[in-house]
Amino acid sequence: MTTKFPPINPRFPHMLHGGDYNPDQWPEEVWAEDMRLMKLANCNAMSTGIFSWTHLEPEEGKFTFGWLDRIMDMLAENNAYAVLATPSGARPAWLSKKYPEVLRVREERLRNLHGIRHNHCMTSPIYREKVRIINTQLAERYKDHPALLVWHISNEYNGECHCDLCQDAFRAWLKKRYNNDLDRLNKAWWTAFWSHTYTDWEQIESPSPVGELYQHALNLDWKRFSNEQTFDFFLNEIKPLRELTPNVPVTTNFMGLFPGLNYPKFAEYVDVVSWDSYPVWHTTEADWRLGAQISFVHDQNRSMKGGQPFMLMESTPSNTNWQPIPKLKRPGMHMLSSLQAVAHGSDTVQYFQWRKSRGSSEKFHGAVVDHVGHEHTRVFQDVSDLGAVLKKLDGVVGTSVRPDVAIYLDWENRWAIDDMQALGRGRRNYPETVLAQYLPFWKRGIPVDVISEEAEISSYKLVIAPMLYMLKPGVAERIRAFVANGGTFVATYWTGIVDETDLCFLGGWPGGGLREVLGIWDEETDTLTPDERNSVLPAPGNELGLTGSFTAKDYFALIHAETARVLATFGSDFYAGRPALTVNDFGKGQAYYIASRNDEDLTDAFYGKLADKLDLLRALPVELPEGVTAQLRTDGEKRFIFVMNFNPMPATVDLGAVHYRSLVSGEPVSGMLALGAYGVEILEG
Ligand code: GLA
Ligand code: ZN
Repeated sequence: MTTKFPPINPRFPHMLHGGDYNPDQWPEEVWAEDMRLMKLANCNAMSTGIFSWTHLEPEEGKFTFGWLDRIMDMLAENNAYAVLATPSGARPAWLSKKYPEVLRVREERLRNLHGIRHNHCMTSPIYREKVRIINTQLAERYKDHPALLVWHISNEYNGECHCDLCQDAFRAWLKKRYNNDLDRLNKAWWTAFWSHTYTDWEQIESPSPVGELYQHALNLDWKRFSNEQTFDFFLNEIKPLRELTPNVPVTTNFMGLFPGLNYPKFAEYVDVVSWDSYPVWHTTEADWRLGAQISFVHDQNRSMKGGQPFMLMESTPSNTNWQPIPKLKRPGMHMLSSLQAVAHGSDTVQYFQWRKSRGSSEKFHGAVVDHVGHEHTRVFQDVSDLGAVLKKLDGVVGTSVRPDVAIYLDWENRWAIDDMQALGRGRRNYPETVLAQYLPFWKRGIPVDVISEEAEISSYKLVIAPMLYMLKPGVAERIRAFVANGGTFVATYWTGIVDETDLCFLGGWPGGGLREVLGIWDEETDTLTPDERNSVLPAPGNELGLTGSFTAKDYFALIHAETARVLATFGSDFYAGRPALTVNDFGKGQAYYIASRNDEDLTDAFYGKLADKLDLLRALPVELPEGVTAQLRTDGEKRFIFVMNFNPMPATVDLGAVHYRSLVSGEPVSGMLALGAYGVEILEG
């Protein structure tokens, strides 16, 4: 099966390398030097104009594009490209002053003053109109400019607004969602509870700490609405760009696992996914553990558009000044963490920022060009070295991977879990629970897709549903069909509890038809104190071959094996002997149920057994040392294997008898592959 996608923009079939570029903060004398340095750093793409609105429109209707014209020309003269931004991420003060409706209202119903950024009302017709005008101007002016490669829409959209315009829009959205039927909404939201039944649409208000707070279905629908207002705002932004520059791809930079925006839904509206990654390496947590977390997010970004390569829109070349510990990247980490993004499907490595700003809040943030102003710095050299490697990766551009494994990470499910009053506070840790199931695959170099509930799953061998509390319409049906047709499914405790408006399934959990697939009935769930433990004891002679004794914590589903076979039981408490791990045959497939939150050793042993049993696709057919992973990109014929050592000391990987070629050195590689501290090798073969 081919896994080759076109380049982000076919005009440039190479890896993009560059960063946020703010020449409007600097005198013109600096610009020529920027171009000289850009070439030395092996950079070819500059994200320009992200917060430039006041420089482009200093007064309402008065446009000053001269400086940007010169920058665009200089980029083109130097064979570089602009990832050109629309400036809505920060608005001019004149706009807020003249049209206060653009200022966001907080949930306490307090209107913000003008300041900082990323905080406009998504509904305001005036703001939308002003954005449409400036975006049209930009597109008209640069539509034929050779430097225009990608549109960078706004910046890191986030947040919500509770103004009257938004309240009206919310009610209109609800009317549409509930078919103009208030009774239907009341039933879906279970408003008879505490006498909260609405008798008029006008009574509905967004959630607020000074108003309605515990109406979980309202909270969910408000989040859905705020998301859709953001998508709609985005669509308003790109309308003139679509008309004037139909061949220039649009993206907007996502923020990894930021909870506020349902990125898999947002991804439907962009041409290419991009995200901003700011891990803090070298802290008390082993770097390889953080490495696995970041791999997980990269995989999530690749999975959103069916494996299509994404963009690493921002990362720091050195430290991230706003993080609690703004630690410098140790030697090797810049190359490793950048190629890690590529390994998981990025066709770019980009930074915040190109030139370190002289003043204001980001003057101490890592940048390619430091305040010293020349190229003779460690960081500049790291960036330049990486750029030299990226130039050798033309063959990797557009390639991807089709994993055998998918894990659900669903944003709406996360909202519901975070908001519910169950399982105690501070330990529900939904994303961490998903990550815990991912880790065994990362350690084995087994590629994984990270998918939302809406995703199609028929092509996978193994689908994992950790804490899939909320089953939206169609999900259980897809899982049933998947298993019936021979797929292997794994669910954990706290799966299949509520429907999409947070109404509990009646008649026995897991609901929606999953009870039959899993062959168990989940009667109750126990929550232990943080320091309590129970044990999980594999049944003698169990069909997975699990042996020993394992530790479990936090959550315990007290289940009945109905048609399922019991693979392990709990060791103590009043539910000693009850099933802890089960498997059920359903149609041609099998469905496993993990009834407790288990320590890493059991999770690793369990998925290790499944990986062997199902013969899952691996990047390398060998065992990897701790802290080393291997990831795969392929066009269906050529295979590019990224072998990455996240340890601060060297590691060796036994490649066996297979012969590869290094894309970095061009030399043949076989036998024992030695990786230095934070070392990375890209093998073709
Ligand atoms: C975000 C923003 C950038 C910059 C960086 C700093 O990702 O998009 O404008 O503020 O953080 O890390
Ligand atoms: Zn508003």
